[in-house]
Amino acid sequence: MGTSSEELREQVRARYADAARAVAGEGGGCGCGSGSCCAEEAEVGKFGEALYDAEQRGALPDAAVLASLGCGNPTAVADLHQGETVLDLGSGGGIDVILSARRVGPTGTAYGVDMTDEMLALAQQNARDAGVRNVHFLKGLIEQIPLPAGSVDVVISNCVINLSTDKPAVLTEIARVLRPGGRLGISDVVADDSLAPAERAQRGSYVGCIAGALSRGEYESGLEAAGFEHISVEFTHEVADGMHGAIVKAVKTSHPEEKGLPVVQPAAGAGCC
Ligand SMILES: C[S@@+](CC[C@H](N)C(=O)[O-])C[C@H]1O[C@@H](n2cnc3c(N)ncnc32)[C@H](O)[C@@H]1O
Repeated sequence: MGTSSEELREQVRARYADAARAVAGEGGGCGCGSGSCCAEEAEVGKFGEALYDAEQRGALPDAAVLASLGCGNPTAVADLHQGETVLDLGSGGGIDVILSARRVGPTGTAYGVDMTDEMLALAQQNARDAGVRNVHFLKGLIEQIPLPAGSVDVVISNCVINLSTDKPAVLTEIARVLRPGGRLGISDVVADDSLAPAERAQRGSYVGCIAGALSRGEYESGLEAAGFEHISVEFTHEVADGMHGAIVKAVKTSHPEEKGLPVVQPAAGAGCC
């Protein structure tokens, strides 16, 4: 019998709780790939802190850098402006939330959503140590984002959507929380279109961010169905045969009615200004 999506989510939660405890000095665990905390020689540079430049790493608490388990650097590709509201899906130890909070400045806000208590505690400590105050870490699922409709300017994420057991729900939720014209700039593992799901699973585990990856075409069509335009999926580095670290960018359509998509009214008081 296969693993149910609830069981798979529980395995993901356990894996990343373990990784957070390792960074906090309470025992060992690993993240994406074979894990930046225990990467094989061949994997150095494909996941984790090596994907951030020295200046960014130098301006962060050590634990935030150590807890970096992503497959890219979404803050390097997302176009962030002072005063904007940014949301990081699967914020882990908080590295991208802290970097984003500095980019949007004191008039902006950076939210992180994560389902793992140990990661949320680590991220809160890291934000305190970094001295950033315009951050909020929320416990929740990226399939049911705990923020109102139309309340976010930019959604970022780093190596998390591949871990979701319901990717259409994640993409629909991103579209719901973004304001019309809002931007998506994420890093994720993405497969060549030629690889069937079973072939992706031969290349690595689900909790290790490989088996659950979408292909480029699946990402593009999923984003289009959720109401995005100007979609691009750019491969940056190979993480396994036919599997890539990728930058995914898109813009939420400003005219959902023209595309036959539901028009979501922003919740009262949501958004900036
Ligand atoms: C590979 S780590 C990446 C963490 C962080 N983005 C980074 O770059 O270091 C994945 C994170 O996503 C969280 N996560 C995975 N699936 C999730 C889901 N469905 N809802 C909320 N959080 C999730 C995990 O708890 C973990 O903190």
